[in-house]
Amino acid sequence: MAITKVGVLGCGLMGAGIAQVAAQAGFMTVVREVNQAVLDKGLDRINAILEKDVSKGKLSAADRDASLARLYGTTSFEDLADCDLIIEAIVEQLPAKREVFTALDELCPPSTIFVSNTSSLTIMEMAAVTKRPDRFAGLHFFNPVPVMKLVEIVRALTTSDETIASLHEFTRALGKTPINTSDTTGFIVNRLLVPFLLDAVRLLESGVATREDIDEGMKLGCGHPMGPLTLLDFVGIDTVYSIANIMFDEFREPRFAPPPLLRRMVLAGHFGRKSGQGFYSY
Ligand code: CAA
Ligand code: NAD
Repeated sequence: MAITKVGVLGCGLMGAGIAQVAAQAGFMTVVREVNQAVLDKGLDRINAILEKDVSKGKLSAADRDASLARLYGTTSFEDLADCDLIIEAIVEQLPAKREVFTALDELCPPSTIFVSNTSSLTIMEMAAVTKRPDRFAGLHFFNPVPVMKLVEIVRALTTSDETIASLHEFTRALGKTPINTSDTTGFIVNRLLVPFLLDAVRLLESGVATREDIDEGMKLGCGHPMGPLTLLDFVGIDTVYSIANIMFDEFREPRFAPPPLLRRMVLAGHFGRKSGQGFYSY
């Protein structure tokens, strides 16, 4: 089906990036947040990134203005009722995700495709609360969305071929490369990445090395753009903690269990870059 209008749920780290790239690719885009203050913060971040691109000469002022004219922020679900595609990017908690999909299932026509940007939750658990399990899939972007080229397209047991084809077309229209994966916890990338990140926390916890040496080791020794502890701060400690719990519940393997330090950091509000404090201070 043709996608012209895109709704994004959540304007946090990921939702803001997804809304930005959708608007820049020419889609009418509406992004919904829980309140005006959080929405304004997310929209301000989009504005700042576009402004930086203009000042670097990567984007013309006219293209920035045209992109912003296609982007609209709201706190109401009703404004998403006429979207062809809904991309959910709210907190990594199943009850919250099921709640927003239940609300939108009532508002949107049957043709609207619903996708979740979840890192680790089972797509089928969200599709099952809607009356459109054939038009439900995972569409997993990577952080920072404007930079990372990959999108994982996740086929749930009930997802139709037409839905997968539309999502491939949409992903390509964003200038990203799709890869296909089945609805298994963590899909491809997080199944490999998350145990590695958790192991870096265990190294720190057990006093093997300092945070700087762990990060330098993987940057200079393996060519990673960021060390694992820096990357944990970048992704969000709260988000990684949720992901680890979900993966451990699914696989029951110790390598997916969240290290105790991660839980204590979440309790302390040390969510990483977004809260100003994580393994490092910002
Ligand atoms: N939004 C938009 N653009 C951004 C950005 C952001 N948040 N952060 C950086 N950029 C852009 C910069 O503007 C710059 O663009 P130009 O080269 O055109 O000027 C470019 O990215 C490079 O940025 P910097 O020079 O400032 O810094 P860098 O070279 O260190 O790159 C990085 C920054 C791209 C984030 C790089 O460090 C990197 O790739 N880090 C690893 C990211 C990663 O692994 N992401 C996956 C996380 S896991 C995930 O997303 C899945 C999940 O479910 C948890
Ligand atoms: P975040 O904490 O930065 O943003 C989440 C946003 O969702 C918040 O601004 C919150 O206000 C908002 N929200 C909107 N409606 C909500 C509702 N009904 N209930 C609760 N919150 C609501 O998180 P994020 O990093 O953007 O992650 C969002 C989703 O994307 C998660 O599922 C996460 O697993 C996934 N993801 C994250 C990354 C990453 O690197 N951070 C990468 C890929 C996927």
